[in-house]
Amino acid sequence: MPFTRKITGQLTFHTALCFFMTTTYCFAEQKIAPVEISGESFRCIKEMALAGRVYVDNISGDLESTLAVANSKTGGTYPPGSVVQLFPNEAMVKHEAGFNPITKDWEFFELDVDKNGTTIRKRGFQDVKNRFDGNCFACHVAAEAKWDMICGSGHGCEALPVNDLAILALQNTDPRCKVEDITFKHRVTAWLIKLFTPL
Ligand code: HEC
Repeated sequence: MPFTRKITGQLTFHTALCFFMTTTYCFAEQKIAPVEISGESFRCIKEMALAGRVYVDNISGDLESTLAVANSKTGGTYPPGSVVQLFPNEAMVKHEAGFNPITKDWEFFELDVDKNGTTIRKRGFQDVKNRFDGNCFACHVAAEAKWDMICGSGHGCEALPVNDLAILALQNTDPRCKVEDITFKHRVTAWLIKLFTPL
């Protein structure tokens, strides 16, 4: 019967269309945008968002989720694109899930910063060392699992031999920042740190 054939034909067409749209949708969902990192991914530390004593950013555009984990009292997993910095010349950046299960998808960076911007001096996963010959991963892996390799204080890592004054002085004298109000104390502290260390 032509009428029944027409209905059946329409149903088949719609079923095929639905199936096609569903599979397209599924594949689209599975495609994960890679996190691409260059010197331009980094900027004046004080233009990033402050969370406790660290500065955070998200180069994939999801700063809200990064801040939610950074400010959480119970820890959590940082979203892809997260940038975390305590010092202007060191950073951890989160790749997409599954990129490097050993480092929980974090990449470690040693940066050179000056008034013109940021140059990546070293980058990598388990092998990057800071200017004091300390291996980033070896220290950060000691953080309890719920803190996602972030050492903070009391998270289980070996402490850094720096006090709050040194941290604030280095953050406030980041040469990429256009700030005029650096205090004398911070300027002198940062100058002394750079004079007596490889920073
Ligand atoms: C001796 C152990 C040690 C080494 C080596 C080390 N870190 Fe850390 N790192 C720490 C500790 C401890 C803190 C927390 C300091 C604080 O908040 O007082 C920290 C803080 C940080 C932070 C801020 C987020 C956090 O974990 O609290 C980043 C980002 C970071 N380090 C990156 C690096 C990178 C990149 C390297 C290598 C280039 C590196 N670190 C080497 C122990 C280490």
